[in-house]
Amino acid sequence: MVKSNFFKQCLEFVSERIPVEKISYEAMVQKKSVPHHKMSWAYYLGGLTLLFLSIQFITGILLLFYYQATVSDAHSSVEHITQYVGGGDLIRNLHAWSSSLMILCLILHMMTTFAMKAFQRPRELTWITGVVLLLLTFALGFSGYLLPWHQIGVNATKVGLQSIELIGAYLPGELALLPTKIKEIIQGDSMVEQATLSRFFALHVVVCPILLLGILGFHLFSIQLHGMSEGVDHPTGKSEKFFPTFILKDLRVWSVVFCAAFITALCIPFDSFSPFPLLAPYDALGSTPPGIKPEWYFFFIYYPLELLPFWLIALLQNLLLAILFLAPWIFKNTSRKALFLITLVAAIYFFGITIFGQDLYNLIMGVHS
Ligand code: HEM
Repeated sequence: MVKSNFFKQCLEFVSERIPVEKISYEAMVQKKSVPHHKMSWAYYLGGLTLLFLSIQFITGILLLFYYQATVSDAHSSVEHITQYVGGGDLIRNLHAWSSSLMILCLILHMMTTFAMKAFQRPRELTWITGVVLLLLTFALGFSGYLLPWHQIGVNATKVGLQSIELIGAYLPGELALLPTKIKEIIQGDSMVEQATLSRFFALHVVVCPILLLGILGFHLFSIQLHGMSEGVDHPTGKSEKFFPTFILKDLRVWSVVFCAAFITALCIPFDSFSPFPLLAPYDALGSTPPGIKPEWYFFFIYYPLELLPFWLIALLQNLLLAILFLAPWIFKNTSRKALFLITLVAAIYFFGITIFGQDLYNLIMGVHS
């Protein structure tokens, strides 16, 4: 009896989140509308993330024609792409710029959907698939950093992998061995070597993209099924048709943003923001460059790791992850005003530490030395 009740509840949960009876061109496209309110601009962020993801796929495939995933040739193949392949420099630069812009749009998209309570019933699965997409995007960023096999990429990967191992020190009994096992599986060898590069390459170009495409398919499908959420506290009652009005506006925004990204990639080498010369290949005998850092989108965790005890950050990080996954239930009865304030605090922390993290670090270390 208890079992059949539970089964019934599960079925009801799924059928409300995936209402198959709504699967029709009429309900999903013709009748869909986009609400008008003071945060309507946020509805463009998911689309922009999609635009940058498409750029990543196209430029990534083009790079694959020349890139060699071997320790001996990876760096020189990237150098070859940059210096000798027609348009190679631009494609590589576009791939780098677009990855950062995608992550920026993704973070803003997550923050705005949170602030607008777009995760609430029946959109819980849209939200949860979003969190998985966020994790997969971070995994793409982390795995891609190693591929050019340069000094900073290899060393940053070593630091990243070591931090997985450190978690073991805080786990009881047999569980303490688990993080080391996970690290070894990802690393593929006792050191960051050819096996690591092969695994990161497979993760970056096959595993993560396939998972991402499948989950993104569900994310977009469920958005079309449920339509857009109402947005802010006081619905204005005004809306516009999704097709063709909103789609045409979306395409207009895409064109402008794509031109801006293209011109940026044409004029400003992404590496010019790196304190380390890209063209220095990894030297196993060389010393670790001082102050190596991950990409900017990991600063929100990198600076706290530099300044606070590891166990505290590991705990907070897992707590944040759990809160993200469970947000539709944790914040079920929270008002949009309160959600907006929480988002504001999170945004101030994330962008504050990303922009001023180094100054804060210097200040604190200066006081202590
Ligand atoms: C590869 C990453 C992602 C892509 C390409 C993507 C794409 C989209 C698109 C095109 C929309 C419809 C337009 C809009 O509301 O902006 C949307 C809606 C939505 N997304 Fe994402 N998304 C991604 C990741 C995420 C993440 C990380 C979250 C949150 C954790 C999330 C949560 C949502 C929610 C809740 C909606 C429904 C919005 C509403 O009904 O008002 N998405 N997404």
